[in-house]
Amino acid sequence: MQFDLSGQTAVVTGSGRGNGRETAKLLAENGANVVVNDLDAEPAETVAASIRDADGNAVAVDADVSDRESVDAMFDVASDEFGTVAILVNNAGIGQGDRFLNEPDGDDFRTNLEVHLFGAINCTRAACGGMVEQGYGKIVNLTSIHTKNGVGMSPQYDVAKFSLLGLTKSLALELGGEGIRVNAVAPGWVNTRLTEGFEPQTREQIIDQNPLGRFGDPEEIAETIAFLCAPASDYVNGHELRVDGGQAPIDTWKHRYD
Ligand SMILES: NC(=O)c1ccc[n+]([C@@H]2O[C@H](COP(=O)([O-])OP(=O)(O)OC[C@H]3O[C@@H](n4cnc5c(N)ncnc54)[C@H](O)[C@@H]3O)[C@@H](O)[C@H]2O)c1
Repeated sequence: MQFDLSGQTAVVTGSGRGNGRETAKLLAENGANVVVNDLDAEPAETVAASIRDADGNAVAVDADVSDRESVDAMFDVASDEFGTVAILVNNAGIGQGDRFLNEPDGDDFRTNLEVHLFGAINCTRAACGGMVEQGYGKIVNLTSIHTKNGVGMSPQYDVAKFSLLGLTKSLALELGGEGIRVNAVAPGWVNTRLTEGFEPQTREQIIDQNPLGRFGDPEEIAETIAFLCAPASDYVNGHELRVDGGQAPIDTWKHRYD
């Protein structure tokens, strides 16, 4: 055990796959009781079962984070099963979007904001009553390399992640006095479902512009999230921690629009 999270109740959204899955598993390995949330029931149940098989505590809840009623019901399950939530990881995310000029009605902007921003708002609202009461809580929001300079390939995603960073900074100010720390982790390009469809040319460009010469792995994102949930980071608040191998600013996305 690297981080002591014994007995703490954690909700990790979108943890049926990718960064969320590795985070749920790592928090459980470090003693947390984990609610494995995902839009898709099956992968969430598989992750929860694998945690239980490893002698951890986990329950799966399929819920759409953008739906406030489903989120409230999920937090009822969390407190009934494990007690007041101490850790919330707002990880659920989508990769939907196209260049601005191809999207005249703005629907993808709404969808991205619904999942990334309002999903985090819904879960934070549901979590923070209990956190305030117990005077203790840790919230980690998954932003992105997109909040470095924007990436441009999907302005809908850029905007949603910048807004989530704004929420992080603002809530860190408001909730710090209640004993609740709010931070963000900004992954670079990571080997998950979100990036598996990248063109070989895009993949090569990313690797060329990365000092470590590779994509990240979801386990590496999970380690940083766990750190921000642990006592080791008790004086870290309102921070966005980049986990991107020092990825250079993306300046070669223009080919996507040619
Ligand atoms: N992979 C990357 O390169 C990368 C880079 C930067 C940031 N991120 C962020 O990391 C987070 C996790 O993404 P990932 O790369 O692991 O992708 P992923 O597709 O592997 O996992 C995302 C999970 O979120 C779930 N999900 C989507 N919408 C949901 C909703 N409304 N309610 C509940 N669950 C929902 C999906 O079903 C999926 O299981 C996202 O916030 C993403 O934006 C990823």
